[in-house]
Amino acid sequence: MSTKVKKMYVCAECGYQTPKWLGRCTSCGSWNTLNEEILSTSQPSRTKNVKVPSGVKNLKDIAPAQSKRISSGIMEFDRVLGGGAVPGSVILIGGEPGIGKSTLLLQVSERIASQGKVLYISGEESPEQIKLRSDRLGIKSDNIIILPETDINLILDYTHSLEPKCVIIDSIQTINNPQFYKITGSFSQIRETTSTLLHMAKKMNLPVFLIGHVTKEGNIAGPKALEHIVDVVLYMEGERYHSFRLLKSQKNRFGSTYEIGVFEMTQNGLEPVSNPSSYFLEAHDKKMPGSVITTIMEGTRPLLVELQALVVPSNLPYPRRVVEGTDFNKLLLLTAILEKLVGLNLAHQEIYLKIAGGMKIKEPSIDLAIAAAVLSSAKNKAAPVKSVLIGEVGLTGEIRPVTYINQRIDESIKMGFEKMIIPYGNLKKLGKRSAGIKEIQPIKYINELNTVI
Ligand code: TYD
Ligand code: MG
Repeated sequence: MSTKVKKMYVCAECGYQTPKWLGRCTSCGSWNTLNEEILSTSQPSRTKNVKVPSGVKNLKDIAPAQSKRISSGIMEFDRVLGGGAVPGSVILIGGEPGIGKSTLLLQVSERIASQGKVLYISGEESPEQIKLRSDRLGIKSDNIIILPETDINLILDYTHSLEPKCVIIDSIQTINNPQFYKITGSFSQIRETTSTLLHMAKKMNLPVFLIGHVTKEGNIAGPKALEHIVDVVLYMEGERYHSFRLLKSQKNRFGSTYEIGVFEMTQNGLEPVSNPSSYFLEAHDKKMPGSVITTIMEGTRPLLVELQALVVPSNLPYPRRVVEGTDFNKLLLLTAILEKLVGLNLAHQEIYLKIAGGMKIKEPSIDLAIAAAVLSSAKNKAAPVKSVLIGEVGLTGEIRPVTYINQRIDESIKMGFEKMIIPYGNLKKLGKRSAGIKEIQPIKYINELNTVI
């Protein structure tokens, strides 16, 4: 086998490699992220007498894995994992700094600690800081071992001697291998330490949770590459100034990626929200012009949310359009459609639109509700009492059907709503359960909104 040593510049953000140094990565556009790294390339010489590798098996002869999932004791968390953590798997939990990752995993530690020792490795916070947080969370377990360490070799040695039930790494960006002359947090350090931890997880048959910080663009800092090394990738989302947090699954080798967990950040840590719709509708006043209720789908779960629009006269040559929680261009588009097809004059009006509760929604099924909220505020006339509007709006004003119509109607019935305004195209797909709603008004074109509001 011949070994060649090659120098390369590797982008810490996306892993792009180039032989020449660049100020800006040509692949992802990040500035100053290229670091020199030594890559060794080995080229094994091939022989003709092939030895059959010992791991070769016929698929039908392989016995199914007998791994029993480890429950975190937190229902919303287990749901996203697909029923608990699989021993031997590496689970990456990403999110912006301050969103609550450490809090969640300390809470998970406590629950798992009732089944065995939990090793919490912190490269970010001192044991005293973790103690402060655990006091706040009311954690009393004597089975949580805190290790303030960043050297992967020491972490491996200690984990082998402790034999814990699970390991938590807070955060993967702080862990390094000092034998590797590379910057902590660089692309290759993170990739290297993660593969080492993956190997350890499989060998010791325990779940390893990795916390990973996410950059503003939404990448787990440093490495998109991490996502394909690990078994499960979860993202924690939410607005910093609102208390709800969503835990979404981006990848799961052992379950569905459609499940989400909903939590509320409280004085005493994250609390599971088992009925999210009621959380988002809490402050809803039924008779306000500009307020409209719609449903969205978060994975397989329907959620009811409130949209609010405010339309006021403006003296500005270009009246303001302000959007919070959804796409700005969506409002511009729907405004144009309302002007052309519904006959609303918005040229001298300012329009403000927001999603109550701090949700961020991209789903096209909220189009009709946005149009209705703007119309309702412009006319100063409230939407019908206890009504829900759902539908995607096409450029020519046609209302297009949405997915999961029955689940959406079910959830609305559950939350006490009585009237649904839904796309005409969804009518033929209505199941028996949807009959429970008092009134369904199908809608084909946007101008029919004038009969609703
Ligand atoms: P943290 O878990 O440290 O976030 P991350 O690890 O993702 O960076 O949580 C950060 C925020 O959560 C912090 O600003 C305070 C808030 N918080 C609460 O509101 N209640 C609590 O019980 C705890 C522990 C934190
Ligand atoms: Mg943290």
